[in-house]
Amino acid sequence: MDREAESFTDQPPVLAIDGPSGAGKGTVAKAVVEALGWHFLDSGALYRLTGLYCQRCGVDPDDVGRAAGLASELPASFRVVDGNEQVWLGNEEVSGELRTEATGALASRVAVLQPVRDALLQRQRDFRRPPGLVADGRDMGTVVFPDAPVKIFLTATAEERARRRYKQLKDQGANVSLASLSEEIAERDRRDASRATAPLKPAPDAETLDTTGIAVTEVVEQVLQRVEVYLRQASAHL
Ligand code: DC
Repeated sequence: MDREAESFTDQPPVLAIDGPSGAGKGTVAKAVVEALGWHFLDSGALYRLTGLYCQRCGVDPDDVGRAAGLASELPASFRVVDGNEQVWLGNEEVSGELRTEATGALASRVAVLQPVRDALLQRQRDFRRPPGLVADGRDMGTVVFPDAPVKIFLTATAEERARRRYKQLKDQGANVSLASLSEEIAERDRRDASRATAPLKPAPDAETLDTTGIAVTEVVEQVLQRVEVYLRQASAHL
C-alpha cells in the first residue's frame, strides 16, 4: 500500500506532536485537544508515573527487569474531577508530584530502558479512540504511531527554551541563572539526540515547526490547519 492510501485507514486519526522539552508541545497539544475534542495522550506522564512507581515500590529505576515489570503493571488512571484533570497511581492522587523536577529525573532514567519502553507501548496505543488522538511525546511519530496521518515536530532554539523555563522557574520563586539553564538544555539535547534507545529525532514524514518567537496561538493555528487539510482529504477519500 502506498503512503497516501495507507494514511486513510479506518483507524481513528492521530496527530503526533514530538520534540524536545520546552518546545511548547504540552501547551499546543492541549489547545488542539480543546479545539478538536479529541483524546489526549501525554506519554511523558507514563514515564513519570513509571519512575514514581519504582520509587514507591523501593525499586531502583536503573534496574531494567524490575522497572519494566512495574511499567507493565502500572496502576495508573487519568480522571477528570469537577473539570480538573487528575492522575492517580493506585489509590494516590499524584498530579502535583508528577510535574516536579525530581519526578522528571526519575522519568528520564526509566525512559532510556528499552524493556520499559516496550512495556508502555500497547498502553499508549490504547489511547487511540474515535474521534481521534493528539499524542504528545518524543517518539509518537517514529515508534508508537508510525502510521499517524499528521506528524509535527515542534522545536525552538535552546536559548528560547531556556528563556521559557527561566520565566517559569522565576515565577515559582526559584533562584536560577539563564546561562546555566541554557547550557543544561543544550547538553540534554545532545544526549537525547545521540542516545541508543529511542533517540529524539523527527519522523521522516514529520513537518518541523520552529516555535522560536512565535505566539502559541499562531502555532496552534498552524497545527490545526494541518489536521483540517488531512480531515478534508480523508473525507474526500471515503
Ligand atoms: O515530556 P516529559 O518531560 O513529561 O517527559 C518525561 C521524560 O520521559 C523525559 O525524560 C523524556 C521521556 N519521554 C520519552 O522518552 N518518550 C516519550 N514519548 C515521552 C517522554
